[in-house]
Amino acid sequence: MPEPRANPVTKVRNLTTPKFDDQELYSLAEKFGTPYFLIDEGVLRKNVSEIEQAYQKFKGPFRVAYSIKANFNPAVIKTFVSEGIMFDLTASNELYFLMKCGGSPENVIYTSITETVAEYESVIKGGVRKIVVSSYNGLLNLIEATSRVGGEVDVLVRVNPEVHVKAELRFSMRHGKFGVPLDGESDDSALSMLKKILETPSLKFDGFHFHLGSQIEDPSCYSEALEKLESFILGARRSVGTFPINTIDIGGGLPTSYGKNVPVPADFSATILEQLSSLAESFGSKFTLIVESGRYLSADSTILVSRIVNVKRFGDNKYVYLDAGYNNLADSALLRHEYPVEVIPGGSTTHQKTVLVGRLCDSLDVFTTSSRSKLGGAEVGKLVVFRGVGAYSIVLSSPFHCQPRPYIHMRDAQGKYMVVRKGQTVEELFDDEGGDAPKASTSV
Ligand SMILES: Cc1ncc(COP(=O)(O)O)c(C=O)c1O
Repeated sequence: MPEPRANPVTKVRNLTTPKFDDQELYSLAEKFGTPYFLIDEGVLRKNVSEIEQAYQKFKGPFRVAYSIKANFNPAVIKTFVSEGIMFDLTASNELYFLMKCGGSPENVIYTSITETVAEYESVIKGGVRKIVVSSYNGLLNLIEATSRVGGEVDVLVRVNPEVHVKAELRFSMRHGKFGVPLDGESDDSALSMLKKILETPSLKFDGFHFHLGSQIEDPSCYSEALEKLESFILGARRSVGTFPINTIDIGGGLPTSYGKNVPVPADFSATILEQLSSLAESFGSKFTLIVESGRYLSADSTILVSRIVNVKRFGDNKYVYLDAGYNNLADSALLRHEYPVEVIPGGSTTHQKTVLVGRLCDSLDVFTTSSRSKLGGAEVGKLVVFRGVGAYSIVLSSPFHCQPRPYIHMRDAQGKYMVVRKGQTVEELFDDEGGDAPKASTSV
């Protein structure tokens, strides 16, 4: 087994993409209001091809899967459908979205968290045939669902290799929530689930899946995880006899830049490509490699545009109030996540520290900024752009303070702007919240 590379080659991604014309940003603001999200279709497509290029030397079939959870806007889904990639789904409603966007269930890998019979029944009826199980109970539920619906399902086992992961969000901690251990002895372990799948006629064992984290800074964790997986598979074959490995799904985690130096997809593939080839040799067959990605594929395609509505000086601080808040960018409050921010048009910086704050009456509603952000020239009426907000932002929005859903615009591959989600009016929000609907008694 080749040694994992200790230090990944870190490269800077181009932060200034997508480039939008300042005047066009102001025109959209005048016409449709602020805050608004703006997606660049070309960047979504470029991101797919960057991951595919990184793995083009993989000696076997390779598939990119888009993790819809990161951003389920139909225009984003349709763009990825037209790229012909796979989709990583975690909820039957996500399957509904995908089908409405012209996707095909054959291109789905389905990893449930709840793993109920009803959920499995619904997605199998919907045509999904590649399912990842993460618990023994979940596996029994899948068996029950296949016996009710009929048909054969390809099954992967989600394992938690319990490796150290350097990342903003870690999913592979010891005794963690997701997946089963490689070395456990209870029913909830990789070996016992593998045996159960192999003895169940309606299931076809397909391979293994792990997901190590999100915004991973050091690719060597994949190498460690694959090493553990290989020794598990070789040991399991000694114990239960040979079984096929058709798919290895190494989950998500490719990082987007957010203004920092991070490894690019080619750094990740360079760390594990040799190891993957030697795995195929030791398994005696080629397998399909799946890389799932939500953040990398969608984050840098999108900006949030907000307007400065007030400015206040307090001691050494210049407070700049926006009409956006963490209701639009939940991770800024949850994780103190820093997005690159820019005042449009910029200006010279003052000696005072600029503190960028949101419109919410909550002390958490202060945006984390650093010298990477360009906050010079912040004055009432100007626009402020947050970059890299395409993942886990729109989908986590809330109407805190009765704030209606903002517009989402897209610039298509031809440079044309279009509304891809209409902004909600306050009247619509009122109605959605129950508004004028008469109170109806419910029989329980
Ligand atoms: C199973 C699985 N795969 C893929 C992803 C996508 O991760 P990322 O957006 O970091 O690529 C997630 C995110 O939570 C996940 O849970």
